[in-house]
Formats: sequence, C-alpha cells, structure tokens
Amino acid sequence: MLEVTGLRVAYGGIQAVRSITFHVNEGEMVALIGANGAGKTSTLKAIARVLDAAGGDVHFCGEKITRIAPHDVIRQGIALVPEGRGVFPRLTVAENLAMGAFVRNDAVDIEKDLKMVFGYFPRLKEREAQLAGTLSGGEQQMLAIGRALMSRPRMLLLDEPSMGLAPIMVQKIFEVIRAVAAQGMTILLIEQNAKLALETSQRGYVMESGEITLHGAAGDLLNDPKVRAAYLGE
Ligand SMILES: Nc1ncnc2c1ncn2[C@@H]1O[C@H](COP(=O)(O)OP(=O)(O)OP(=O)(O)O)[C@@H](O)[C@H]1O
Ligand SMILES: [Mg+2]
Repeated sequence: MLEVTGLRVAYGGIQAVRSITFHVNEGEMVALIGANGAGKTSTLKAIARVLDAAGGDVHFCGEKITRIAPHDVIRQGIALVPEGRGVFPRLTVAENLAMGAFVRNDAVDIEKDLKMVFGYFPRLKEREAQLAGTLSGGEQQMLAIGRALMSRPRMLLLDEPSMGLAPIMVQKIFEVIRAVAAQGMTILLIEQNAKLALETSQRGYVMESGEITLHGAAGDLLNDPKVRAAYLGE
C-alpha cells in the first residue's frame, strides 16, 4: 500500500535520511524503530509532505505522491499523527475533531465517525467543549489520534504516540491503536519504545543514522541479539 524507494531527506548539508527503502502492506502494522536522531520523524514528514524529500519516491496505492501538496496527501487517505501531537490548543476538543474532517463533505458519515472516535476515547466525549491546550498529555494524544481518524484515512502514520506519557496512559493509547488496527487500518508506527512497538506490529524496520540497518518479522526482531542490546536495554 505504501512504497518508499530510495527516500532521502536533508537539512542544509545534513543528511538526515540516506536513501531508505521500505514498504507497508494493506492492513499491516509496521514499526519503524531507532534511537534519537535516527531520522524517523524526517521519514514520516517526507511521506506526509510536511517537508520535501531530497530524493527518492513515495507511492501510495500505486500512485506517486512524492511531490503532491500536503492536503492532497490527506485526500489520498494518509493521516499523520505528528510527534508532539500538534493539537490546536485554543480550539475545543470538538473543534479539533472537526478540523480532522476538513477534507470531507459527507456530513452523515462525519457524524458516524465522531461517534466512533468517542467510542474509542470516552474521555474526549466528556471533554468535548474543553480547550485542547488544557488537556493532559495523554488526552492530547487521544485527540491527535481522534483527529486523524476523522479524515477517514486508509493509512495512519503515528509518530511516537507513547512519548512523555505515564505507563497507564500508554496502555490505554495502545489499546486503541490495536483496536483500530483490528478494524483493518494500515499503520506505520514510529516508536523509541522498541519493545512496545514490536509487540504491537507484524513487521519492523530498524533505523540508525538515517539508514535502515535491519528489518524483519516483529517477533524475529524482538529476539535479535543486536536489537536486544541496542534497543531493549539488554
Ligand atoms: N528542522 C531541522 N533542521 C535541521 N536538522 C534537523 C531538523 N529536524 C531534524 N534534524 C536532524 O535530522 C536528524 C534526524 O532527526 P529526526 O527528527 O528525523 O530523528 P528521529 O529519529 O525522529 O529522532 P527522535 O527519536 O529524537 O524523535 C537529526 O540529526 C536531527 O538533528
Ligand atoms: Mg522523532
């Protein structure tokens, strides 16, 4: 469904992503793991067209999306949940969710999807009228995922959904991610928490200094001595 070929990202002279190639099949959850500064966020941003790739190609459902506008990426069915969540702090929960549906004009289905999001995250329903900036970190993460779901995507790109959250909240968020995946959603999951990411995904790629150095079935990566030493603290 998503095919990334020879993707490169550079900031001035700094090569953040050095020609990486990977893919995500329809209905699959794939983890992209790696240390700080490995180039994970840069990769997601290039796919979502939040920044320009310095080289390479991205195809989605057979169509080349390497140079289309960011709002067209959303129209194609890719929703990014960015690092740091990116909710609109001075808008309410309901308004943030409505923003997620801005590319749509099917009012009846939008209403259905809002019910679905509130089903996944009852906390958001309770706080519908609250300003997003006053939510806890975990609630903001719920809102960011909910907003992404409101575009009725075919694929979700999740950038560090566990970052900065208490373990109980991480559990709650991942329960929902698994539930969304069980409904058939295709997901590319970026995580520094390699154990959690690999336990949740079917396959994984390991990124180091802008390159993919290992890939395979998530279970195999979890048992790989190099992965265990570098990312699982063993
Ligand atoms: N806007 C920017 N300008 C210059 N350099 C940048 C910029 N954003 C990222 N970089 C550099 O690109 C490299 C990759 O960063 P990136 O954020 O993609 O890594 P990451 O794997 O997401 O790391 P983290 O786990 O800390 O989120 C790093 O060396 C970083 O310093
Ligand atoms: Mg990052």
